[in-house]
Amino acid sequence: MASVTAPKGTADILPRDSYKWQYLEGKIRDICARFNFSEIRTPVFEHTEVFERGVGDTTDVVSKEMYTFTDKGGRSVTLRPEGTAGVVRAFLENGLFNEPMPAKLYYLINCFRYEKPQKGRLRQFSQFGIELFGATSPAADAMVISLPYTIFKEIGIGDIELKINSIGCKTCRAEYRRALTAYFEDKKDSLCATCNDRLYKNPMRILDCKSEICREISAGAPKILDYLCDDCRAHFDSVKSLLNCMNIGYTVDPYIVRGLDYYNRTVFEFVSSNIGAQGTVCGGGRYDGMTEQLGGASYPGIGFAMGLERIMLLLNGDEIARPEPQIYIAAMGERAKAYAALLAQRLISDGVRAEYDIMERSLKAQMKYADKIGARTCVVLGDNELDTGRALIKSMTDGASSEIALDNINLQTITEFLNR
Ligand code: HAM
Repeated sequence: MASVTAPKGTADILPRDSYKWQYLEGKIRDICARFNFSEIRTPVFEHTEVFERGVGDTTDVVSKEMYTFTDKGGRSVTLRPEGTAGVVRAFLENGLFNEPMPAKLYYLINCFRYEKPQKGRLRQFSQFGIELFGATSPAADAMVISLPYTIFKEIGIGDIELKINSIGCKTCRAEYRRALTAYFEDKKDSLCATCNDRLYKNPMRILDCKSEICREISAGAPKILDYLCDDCRAHFDSVKSLLNCMNIGYTVDPYIVRGLDYYNRTVFEFVSSNIGAQGTVCGGGRYDGMTEQLGGASYPGIGFAMGLERIMLLLNGDEIARPEPQIYIAAMGERAKAYAALLAQRLISDGVRAEYDIMERSLKAQMKYADKIGARTCVVLGDNELDTGRALIKSMTDGASSEIALDNINLQTITEFLNR
């Protein structure tokens, strides 16, 4: 019988890597706490309309990539392709607007998109994102941008470019859409089939098309920045001067439109040129109309999400310490083996990473194993050690040893021995 395999576009995260993920997630949680963002956990699946209404049905994500199915009760449900729509739904449904504003939320989630898998693009992938509700000020935009900036700095990822743009409000976009439609109409026959379809429905989507020819045509398209109304221009100018003031470097890229429909005003992406075609490691922006789109009152919102698989491609794993056992308790004979289990139990409760033999190995094989798993110290227990109540604690790196009372082995004495 052929052996079973994982579905295309999914990946197993194995122990040889999972500690690096834990490091990254730990850093993210720590930085969110320092920015005073709180975690929100929403369901993996939502009613399909949450994404249709929230994300927009002319987007690739909604029109082509969703994992949608009918459940046994005949309802259409969808595995979340992104985090924002579900968080907006939860914000409204749970009345989070009654709590002190702004609402500052973050999430670490899996998302699902039926995309063509390639390096940095999966069908199940991991996102860290934040959503901030209730603030219209440019200061909110700058704060939201400064959070991923802080993360990249603290985890030591350089070479990431921040690109920002403003896509204006409904008013300025209406005029821009007309200009864009007129521009693309002339070149209609050269555009791909999808973009032909988008031309009258949502021409800004064409700027985000991945096809080579559409990209070439888009390069000469009118720029949204030339169509901003006074308010949107003033907002964008303030965001830029706040970023300048915070020493956060950026470039203005007038063609960033983002792949989802809910954005207005500030949009941004952090892009790396070191991981191939899928270089956008983080993307976000303002989405002031989305709460209404999902049937709620009007609350401004802004946020971003970063793809953690892409961050992992950039993270220098060599500098992340794999948590190794602090002590391996080797034992010879039944009595010593039973005591090893008891001692390990006490040490584990004391906060020590401790391991002992459950493979019925010889002493030599136990020591070999302790070495392989990178144990920092070991003690060898036999009848003699149990009778005298004393043993040698030994460093696995330099072989140094020190006599210690068995009752006195604990987190503090092991640490002291390691730091001697
Ligand atoms: P997005 O640009 O669709 O935005 O995705 C955000 C990030 O998720 C991307 O920049 C990328 O790093 C990662 N990503 C997307 N698709 C994949 C994939 N198939 N495989 C691996 N990584 C992927 C959003 O999802 C918005 N909800 C962001 C947001 C939050 N805007 C406002 N608030």
